Amino acid sequence: MKGSLASLLAAAVLARAQIATTSEPAIAQITAAAASTKPESPTSDVKGLAFDRFYQVWLENIDYEDAAADSNMQWLASQGILLTNFYAVTHPSEPNYCAAAGGDTFGMDNDDFLQIPANVSTVADLLDTKGISWGEYQEHIPYAGFQGYNYSNQETYHNDYVRKHNPLILYDSVVKNDTRARQIKGFEAFFDDLDNKKLPQWAFITPNMTNDAHDTNITFAAKWERSWMSTLFKNDYFMNNTAILLTFDEDDTYNKTNRVYSILVGGAIPDHLKGTKDDTFYTHYSTIASVSANWGLPSLGRWDCGANILEMVANKTGYVNYDVDITNLRLNETNPGPLADGDYAKFSAAWPIPATNLSCSAGHGILDAVKKTYAGLTPTHNYTTPFPVDEKNDYNTKVTATRKSSSNTTSSASGSSSAAEGAAVAATVPSVAMTGAMVALFAYLF
Ligand SMILES: *[C@@H]1O[C@H](CO)[C@@H](O)[C@H](O)[C@H]1NC(C)=O
Ligand SMILES: *[C@@H]1O[C@H](CO)[C@@H](O)[C@H](O)[C@H]1NC(C)=O
Ligand SMILES: *[C@@H]1O[C@H](CO)[C@@H](O)[C@H](O)[C@H]1NC(C)=O
Ligand SMILES: *[C@@H]1O[C@H](CO)[C@@H](O)[C@H](O)[C@H]1NC(C)=O
Ligand SMILES: *[C@@H]1O[C@H](CO)[C@@H](O)[C@H](O)[C@H]1NC(C)=O
Ligand SMILES: *[C@@H]1O[C@H](CO)[C@@H](O)[C@H](O)[C@H]1NC(C)=O
Ligand SMILES: *[C@@H]1O[C@H](CO)[C@@H](O)[C@H](O)[C@H]1NC(C)=O
Ligand SMILES: *[C@@H]1O[C@H](CO)[C@@H](O)[C@H](O)[C@H]1NC(C)=O
Ligand SMILES: *[C@@H]1O[C@H](CO)[C@@H](O)[C@H](O)[C@H]1NC(C)=O
Ligand SMILES: *[C@@H]1O[C@H](CO)[C@@H](O)[C@H](O)[C@H]1NC(C)=O
Ligand SMILES: *[C@@H]1O[C@H](CO)[C@@H](O)[C@H](O)[C@H]1NC(C)=O
Ligand SMILES: *[C@@H]1O[C@H](CO)[C@@H](O)[C@H](O)[C@H]1NC(C)=O
Repeated sequence: MKGSLASLLAAAVLARAQIATTSEPAIAQITAAAASTKPESPTSDVKGLAFDRFYQVWLENIDYEDAAADSNMQWLASQGILLTNFYAVTHPSEPNYCAAAGGDTFGMDNDDFLQIPANVSTVADLLDTKGISWGEYQEHIPYAGFQGYNYSNQETYHNDYVRKHNPLILYDSVVKNDTRARQIKGFEAFFDDLDNKKLPQWAFITPNMTNDAHDTNITFAAKWERSWMSTLFKNDYFMNNTAILLTFDEDDTYNKTNRVYSILVGGAIPDHLKGTKDDTFYTHYSTIASVSANWGLPSLGRWDCGANILEMVANKTGYVNYDVDITNLRLNETNPGPLADGDYAKFSAAWPIPATNLSCSAGHGILDAVKKTYAGLTPTHNYTTPFPVDEKNDYNTKVTATRKSSSNTTSSASGSSSAAEGAAVAATVPSVAMTGAMVALFAYLF
């Protein structure tokens, strides 16, 4: 029954999204693989402008106001910088995780078993250009690199690990390489890496469906997060110039703005900024742009290209972020793409073509592999905006953005070419209100 249901579902999904099948290996297979699969823990020590490690911990499906009302979330905010204007990029879960790794949702508006073709690059490829180690910690994934749809609690059969909350597993460019796949590990490996001083410089952390609020609520998850982080706050090795973004995949009320309660904590946060707020507009795409700006890495040429950069990094490069008027912003839906079922996006068979010749907000151009793969092709969108825009489908075309006014950001600039380039862009773009299309035009010109 389960098998036939799975194949029925697989067939239905296949018809809609064209490339999907479910994968539910038998327990015996999982047990055998778990016995013989070792996690991979590469390390590196590449200095960044604002931090030497960037970690994200994502909880699930909570409206901003509900997280803000929780006392444990308030305590976590007191330990760092509260980002009051940070947005998820669509609904439901999976496309948000997808976006944080690959710079697009590819139209995904569902939690299906989807695989993204190997010619789509991710943040892992950006990090690899400078040998910056990366990994993921997925609570209760049964072994490193497991590619099944879910792994439930084997006593209660309650939801535990789910593939839809695992960003890099969605990408063939990661999982078709066994070494890379085994950098996607469980929480046991996290504590091993911590004890052995083998933590990577970039990591994505997903608690299980109990701890992340998905099957519980904010009271439960915030208590878990406070407890988990409190232990780490006392660990000098973990905290050493580390920035940790505590956020949510999406909000819970689909007709709201999709703003999510987000906090930056860790040893890289200067003491005088603890307990402060930052009202800069950010999205999940900002995490890729910030990592690029911090380590001088190229862009994917997708929505990370024009995304605002976390102020702690932008301040070091002289890049001036955009203020975005959210009145007409729709981040509860998404632009068309090949992974759409039609729930919150239109289906389009074509894989979006990234930009190949822009300098992007981090100022370091586009990844060589992207330039090579998509050479001579016209980008599907104008990827220079700090939010996704689609002219053809009238998506976010009426949203206006302005360069933040009189930002004084050059005092701690590093003097590198990136700082000079960022400052030049900041100086030449006038501070007038622009629509999404105009922002794109300006960015093309400079
Ligand atoms: C990328 O791969 C997909 C799937 O195999 C294919 O449809 C697409 O044409 C490829 N794109 C390029 C630019 O090669
Ligand atoms: C995946 O979840 C289903 C229930 O949705 C459960 O029947 C199945 O045992 C789970 N698979 C594993 C490997 O835990
Ligand atoms: C989730 O992990 C916690 C430990 O962090 C554990 O107590 C709980 O049982 C797990 N949830 C499930 C459904 O197994
Ligand atoms: C697989 O990934 C590892 C680690 O990043 C890399 O060293 C190796 O060259 C990759 N192999 C292939 C065939 O791309
Ligand atoms: C979360 O659930 C617990 C246990 O059911 C309950 O005591 C608490 O009030 C709930 N929190 C919220 C914010 O609803
Ligand atoms: C912090 O990192 C630096 C290198 O970046 C190293 O020299 C120092 O020993 C580290 N400190 C701790 C407490 O791990
Ligand atoms: C997105 O939000 C807008 C504005 O609140 C609302 O009109 C629209 O129905 C929402 N879309 C979905 C899919 O919920
Ligand atoms: C959002 O949906 C809820 C429940 O479906 C409804 O009560 C509320 O009026 C809607 N708000 C907007 C802005 O559409
Ligand atoms: C960035 O610079 C501005 C202006 O000097 C300052 O107000 C803000 O606190 C800085 N933010 C961070 C995170 O360093
Ligand atoms: C960059 O690509 C766009 C779109 O293909 C093209 O219109 C533009 O002329 C190119 N600019 C440069 C500097 O090559
Ligand atoms: C990108 O922006 C330019 C300038 O506004 C415009 O000419 C072009 O049609 C836009 N392209 C897309 C795909 O929206
Ligand atoms: C910017 O900051 C520097 C050093 O903190 C200061 O000397 C300079 O006057 C400031 N410029 C403006 C325009 O505020």
